Amino acid sequence: MDLSLEGSVAVLGTGAMGSAIAKAVLAAGRPTTVWNRTSGRAQALGAHGAIIADSPSQAVKSADVVVVCVLDHTAVMEVLSSLGSAINGRQLVNFTSSNPAQAREAARWAEAQHAQYLDASIMAGPENIGSEEAMLFYSGSETTYQEHKRLLQSLGGVSKFYGPDPGSAAAYFTALVTLGYETWDSYLRNLAYVEAEGGDLSDFSPLAVDSVVSSGPLLKAMVQAAQTGVHPLEMGPLRTHAALMGDVIDSREQAGVGAAPLRQLKAWIDQSVHKGHVNDGFSRLIDEIRLTRH
Ligand SMILES: NC(=O)c1ccc[n+]([C@@H]2O[C@H](COP(=O)([O-])OP(=O)(O)OC[C@H]3O[C@@H](n4cnc5c(N)ncnc54)[C@H](OP(=O)(O)O)[C@@H]3O)[C@@H](O)[C@H]2O)c1
Repeated sequence: MDLSLEGSVAVLGTGAMGSAIAKAVLAAGRPTTVWNRTSGRAQALGAHGAIIADSPSQAVKSADVVVVCVLDHTAVMEVLSSLGSAINGRQLVNFTSSNPAQAREAARWAEAQHAQYLDASIMAGPENIGSEEAMLFYSGSETTYQEHKRLLQSLGGVSKFYGPDPGSAAAYFTALVTLGYETWDSYLRNLAYVEAEGGDLSDFSPLAVDSVVSSGPLLKAMVQAAQTGVHPLEMGPLRTHAALMGDVIDSREQAGVGAAPLRQLKAWIDQSVHKGHVNDGFSRLIDEIRLTRH
């Protein structure tokens, strides 16, 4: 097979996600070379038409665009560093989950090799790659995004470019993942709290799910408040929250379930009330949170 074909793709890393991407790329009709650190894990892709390379640099030599999907940023930099001059002048799309600082570091490395860098974040499981359900965010090289747009769009239903800062896509990804972790953490703590108080999780859970599902309009109103500085009272005034929060913390601690995030929240409420925002809505707390950023 002619490895120098226009439009060919190298996929470095064929774990669960890298394999799903490689299969979607092959299904899109692109000549594809794959490499994986543990070579046995790449072999199955041969049946889908992939060429198996012995090293990252061998895979990259044949590629018009280089895709990286390994465990984490440390692994990315290890793989990229092993490429030597093979990456010079090429286009690189990194699907490995990164935070913004890591994405910017990888972009600086690519720039030093005269390579174009597009950072990618995946909000989907491997089973959804190539389907309408998959959401993929991109930022960094617009040239790479535009030149390979059709290929990138074939990976998921939502494919969005968030501008030239390579950290932008990673920032949205990191915030969404963190929102998930914090929601699950709170949910599990409250399940433990309900149990400790003798409640039935089957009774409580539908109430909790309804409460989370119906909170969309409130979350949207908070964005407007954060942007305008006008904090409406949809969730009640801070003076009410100041009183309720102390009781909530006492009850959680008496039940033996930690209340550290709530104590932080109470400190912000108290600071805001102290500054005179006693009659503002809950979203006013964003000002206190913004003050903790530096
Ligand atoms: N799976 C998901 O649901 C999902 C969803 C969104 C995003 N992601 C992201 O996709 C990326 C890959 O995840 P995955 O699910 O494919 O994980 P995985 O199945 O555990 O595969 C990890 C891959 O990284 C490789 N690797 C690890 N350390 C390496 C190193 N030092 N040098 C070279 N290769 C190394 C592994 O090679 P070996 O086979 O040799 O160990 C394997 O190919 C992660 O950043 C993950 O956060 C995954």
